Amino acid sequence: MALAAVDVQLVPVDGAGPHDADLALLPVRERDRLAQRRDPADRHRSAAAHAALRRLLGSRLGRDPADVEVGRSETGALVVGEQGWWASVAHSADLAACALARRPVGVDVEGASPPTDPAALARWCSPAEVRALGRASPTGRDAAVRRAWARKEAVAKALGAGLAVPFADLDVRHALVRVPGRRRPVAVRDVDVGPGRSGAVALDHLWVVVRTRR
Ligand SMILES: CC(C)(COP(=O)(O)OP(=O)(O)OC[C@H]1O[C@@H](n2cnc3c(N)ncnc32)[C@H](O)[C@@H]1OP(=O)(O)O)[C@@H](O)C(=O)NCCC(=O)NCCS
Repeated sequence: MALAAVDVQLVPVDGAGPHDADLALLPVRERDRLAQRRDPADRHRSAAAHAALRRLLGSRLGRDPADVEVGRSETGALVVGEQGWWASVAHSADLAACALARRPVGVDVEGASPPTDPAALARWCSPAEVRALGRASPTGRDAAVRRAWARKEAVAKALGAGLAVPFADLDVRHALVRVPGRRRPVAVRDVDVGPGRSGAVALDHLWVVVRTRR
């Protein structure tokens, strides 16, 4: 099986609200969708991620970024109009990200740590993960928890399943993640998104190379 590449584009998001140049690349239905988001920062992050995705896809296809087709499945996963391409976006705090690949892909960035108390961890981690996180040093624990969450979200997005995947069933301690009911595991890789944050990208493929642009 050949190596599959995934392109990840990271976009810093300032507080200035969605940029006109980003909005101009989005179709009316996406702009309407953005307008429904109450939080201006959230609108800005989502617009930045989708505009970055269209620019990336446009450059790969040799097309105007405003002309590339990206729709959504019933579960909310992005669907690239061009056959044989998959995409994903994520946004958190002051960062947006998009990922593009020739296999189903999921990306996640986390600016805050999920709850680390034992009851919360037991809800979204496997017993082996809970034990491993329990062994992390007090200073490294938050980062380890955030990294695990980012990996799980990336895998869930690559599967296109969102909330349908019980996170506790996804053990993300290693680079290949077994998914209940599937024969082949999903590959997951950390993406360096700076101190105090975590990022991950997952691909439905075994051998993966990640190309990150900032
Ligand atoms: C779908 C999900 C992954 C989105 O994550 P989030 O933290 O809300 O937001 P992110 O910034 O990471 O990602 C948002 C993007 O995910 C994408 N997305 C939404 N549903 C998706 C799906 N089913 N598959 C793939 N991608 C999806 C969207 O493109 C969205 O961005 P947009 O609205 O700007 O287009 C998340 O809501 C989810 O399902 N989490 C599962 C949590 C869980 O299972 N918990 C159980 C234990 S507590």
